[in-house]
Amino acid sequence: MGKPQNQTKIIRKLTPCVLYTLIPLALLHYYTYISPHCYNQIAHKRLEKTADSDSITPPVQGKAAELKNQPRCDYSDGHWVQTTAKPLYNGTSCGTIKWAQNCMVNGRPDTGYLYWQWQPEDNRCPAPLFDASVFLEIIKNKHIAFIGDSLARNQVESLICLLSTASKPELVYQGGDDLKFRRWVFYEYNVTLSSLWSQYLVKGTDRNQSEGIDHNTLYLDTPNEKWASELDKIDIVVFHNGHWFVQKAIYYGEGNQLLGCNFAQEINCTDYNIFDAFRKVLRTSLKEVTKRFYKSDKTVVVATFTLAHFEGEWKFGTCLKTEPNKEGDAEMPHLENEMRKLAIEEVARAVKDVKEMNGWLRIEALDVTKLTFLRPDGHPGPYMFPNPFANGIKEGVPNDCVHWCMPGPIDTWNAILLELMKRWKDE
Ligand SMILES: *[C@@H]1O[C@H](CO)[C@@H](O)[C@H](O)[C@H]1NC(C)=O
Ligand SMILES: *[C@@H]1O[C@H](CO)[C@@H](O)[C@H](O)[C@H]1NC(C)=O
Ligand SMILES: *[C@@H]1O[C@H](CO)[C@@H](O)[C@H](O)[C@H]1NC(C)=O
Repeated sequence: MGKPQNQTKIIRKLTPCVLYTLIPLALLHYYTYISPHCYNQIAHKRLEKTADSDSITPPVQGKAAELKNQPRCDYSDGHWVQTTAKPLYNGTSCGTIKWAQNCMVNGRPDTGYLYWQWQPEDNRCPAPLFDASVFLEIIKNKHIAFIGDSLARNQVESLICLLSTASKPELVYQGGDDLKFRRWVFYEYNVTLSSLWSQYLVKGTDRNQSEGIDHNTLYLDTPNEKWASELDKIDIVVFHNGHWFVQKAIYYGEGNQLLGCNFAQEINCTDYNIFDAFRKVLRTSLKEVTKRFYKSDKTVVVATFTLAHFEGEWKFGTCLKTEPNKEGDAEMPHLENEMRKLAIEEVARAVKDVKEMNGWLRIEALDVTKLTFLRPDGHPGPYMFPNPFANGIKEGVPNDCVHWCMPGPIDTWNAILLELMKRWKDE
């Protein structure tokens, strides 16, 4: 950043989207409101490494050093290899697939995306393969709850389909707006599985276009009561959110004190970036569990940020790839890299806190960022709707390049979750 004068001139000329991709990464820190439209452009721009970006640790390098201090198998880094093994379920054998993720039934013509297996780089790790009865056996008499946004829900639905191959669940509760709170029981195993909607994890209200409010309001130090009040009853908590943080928001901190906004250019408000906001959210959520349950046999899992793959505009951009990316086909975008990294850091911090309190609450990361990064072919794309091209028109069809087809790569998140659970049993 040697020439601030020039840079200012350049910055004024550019649209905000382009700006983020050209200025050094350190500056990005201060310009973090990203509209979905821009988000997508940023996500797909290869960010050049500058001297200022040296502090940003690539997510999956320095493996050798890491392995030395970490006796446990690491599933975060790897690549996809072809397999002939069929998915455990299909679009009709599982009744709980949300129509928007039922790519098969919606007419997606290619099936190649179903035949890939995650191969961890760490050669001590077996390829994660799901086994429904093993999963249910491990969490027998327990309650597992996924808390977060629609990606958490997507993972729950994948898990339901996978587990249904061994035991039929019963939906025992659904409620809330859009039936966003659901609970199933696998009576054979006395396993309860819940899906709790809390897209920010903290207290917050959504923007409301009809009332002219174009930003979300978040209270970064206040856990959302919707899940906090349920914690007593949950044995395994899986937090999974992040995508909503790219929207405009005003942030409040302790004592409802205004911290700032991530679209400060537009209103009279101090800048507060989404990475700091998301970090605070994870810290608040993990603190809520640790302070109440540090001496308990509960488990907390934090799933890391997952990739969207729009090429072009959010929603109307497409993701038409039919094969995984290979290493080197693309670079991990900055936003996703940071969101992942800070989640890993907050998990490590919480683990340390529990240790210092002489507790034994188990806290782990479910690191799925890279495996999703390599799967641009795993989204519904236009097949979020049935037969999208039935009328022959291909232009302007909405695409979902955020959520994941079922079956598809999302099933691997649950296969890795099972691998983590297997070691809980051994510990
Ligand atoms: C889906 O699975 C069910 C049960 O295994 C099977 O009967 C059905 O033929 C499968 N459908 C497709 C389209 O493969
Ligand atoms: C069944 O599971 C619940 C947790 O969901 C647990 O509280 C209860 O003790 C279990 N019942 C038996 C008989 O173990
Ligand atoms: C912005 O807010 C500050 C502090 O609240 C206030 O002093 C200032 O007058 C405001 N500026 C404008 C243009 O509203």
